[in-house]
Amino acid sequence: MTDVNLKKIVAEKAVDDYVDRDMIVGLGTGSTVYYAIKKIGGLVASGYRITCVATSVQSEELAKKCGIAVVDLNEVDSIDVTIDGADEVDNSMRIIKGLGGALLREKIVAAASMKEVIVVDESKRVSVLGAKSSLPVEVIKFGHLKTKYALELQGCKATLRMRNEEPFKTDNDNYIYDCKFNSIDNPFFLESRIDVIPGVVENGLFLNTATTVLIASGAGKIEKLGE
Ligand code: A5P
Repeated sequence: MTDVNLKKIVAEKAVDDYVDRDMIVGLGTGSTVYYAIKKIGGLVASGYRITCVATSVQSEELAKKCGIAVVDLNEVDSIDVTIDGADEVDNSMRIIKGLGGALLREKIVAAASMKEVIVVDESKRVSVLGAKSSLPVEVIKFGHLKTKYALELQGCKATLRMRNEEPFKTDNDNYIYDCKFNSIDNPFFLESRIDVIPGVVENGLFLNTATTVLIASGAGKIEKLGE
């Protein structure tokens, strides 16, 4: 089964199992969540009343195209469930997110959600975080080379993310440094060190965030971690 099919299967399973009528649903960002948004659009077309909060301009635009009502996070008290993707997941449901550049809004929306359902294919599974993926860190532009220096003191190689030969800008008009560690053996400690660096807005470690992780494997089997 191709990666694309696995993404579709796992995203649609999350919608089937966790989304219902009259819910407020958080929409993550990325190529896996794409299929969840399309599926929710189908539910709306069939008469379900579902209100969504988006974690990126990209997801908001897709949701609107699918006929889904999208509101600002400030307009809702809380979110029933958010469905989001991930770049790495370990066996304790600790996660790296942000390769799509939406980590800041994803973390704010996750914190406002009663359930956070992460959907991935098996290629995202790791035994130790950081083994494959870089850790994205969103920083403000002002003095960003100083922020980079402080990030590298934590033991990584920090690379300014580029797009079309310009620094990539997030939906919040910030930059991202992709921080490559050999491995992240103590993610809670690392997060506490990164969060106190002036200029850092948010990091891509989502450690106590997911309530469920759904992992699709080759045969189309879905493994569930958490609730
Ligand atoms: C967006 O910033 C990311 O956190 C995505 O959720 C993550 O990169 C997963 O994306 P894919 O589903 O496209 O792999």
